Amino acid sequence: MSQIGIENHLVKRLNMREQLIKFVEIIPIEFVIRNVATGSLTKRLGIEDGTVLKEPLIEYCLKDDKLGDPLISEDHIYAFDWANKKEIEKIKKNIFRINDFMIGMFRGVGIKLIDFKLEFGRTKIDGRKEIILADEISPDTCRLWDSATDKKLDKDRFRKDLGDLLPAYTEVAKRLGILHEQSNVSAVNITKLSSIKKKRK
Ligand code: TMP
Repeated sequence: MSQIGIENHLVKRLNMREQLIKFVEIIPIEFVIRNVATGSLTKRLGIEDGTVLKEPLIEYCLKDDKLGDPLISEDHIYAFDWANKKEIEKIKKNIFRINDFMIGMFRGVGIKLIDFKLEFGRTKIDGRKEIILADEISPDTCRLWDSATDKKLDKDRFRKDLGDLLPAYTEVAKRLGILHEQSNVSAVNITKLSSIKKKRK
């Protein structure tokens, strides 16, 4: 069983509000996989928005907010030793498997999986270094369009100021059967976080 398989197996035994957390040494790359051209790909290459790709496309971005997470090639990863060839091969294999699984899962509930971003990290399991999937997979990190109408059901509603972010996320959760129909979900106003000063004893 691959590492991702093992993780999924363990997660299944937890209830919906529990999470299994493993410490990882994060690989400083954002792995983007695309099935349909949109977002930065269309802007960069002048491709028509919504073009279905002949095959899924993996892109690599360096995780560096100050530099705006720049696009890099696979050779950059090796030149700067951010990961080795064996690790990237394993990661690519897993990205394609996750993509296949998620395309099917979303298709079953009337949603097109346009693209998404994944991160991976190194951890030790039974004394062996393994690469495992890290970070979240959610409508914040995926592009999800309604199959019938192409309505955006993801963070682009926020990025493009389209409104109705909460109903869109709720719709995705309901269709996946992970949110009860009667659930009482409402928006929370988040104010800017400020540091808490601790009183000296
Ligand atoms: P992009 O078209 O803006 O490059 O985005 C590709 C995918 O990656 C899209 O599903 C959104 C996701 N993404 C993140 O999750 N975090 C990010 O910081 C960026 C830039 C994109």
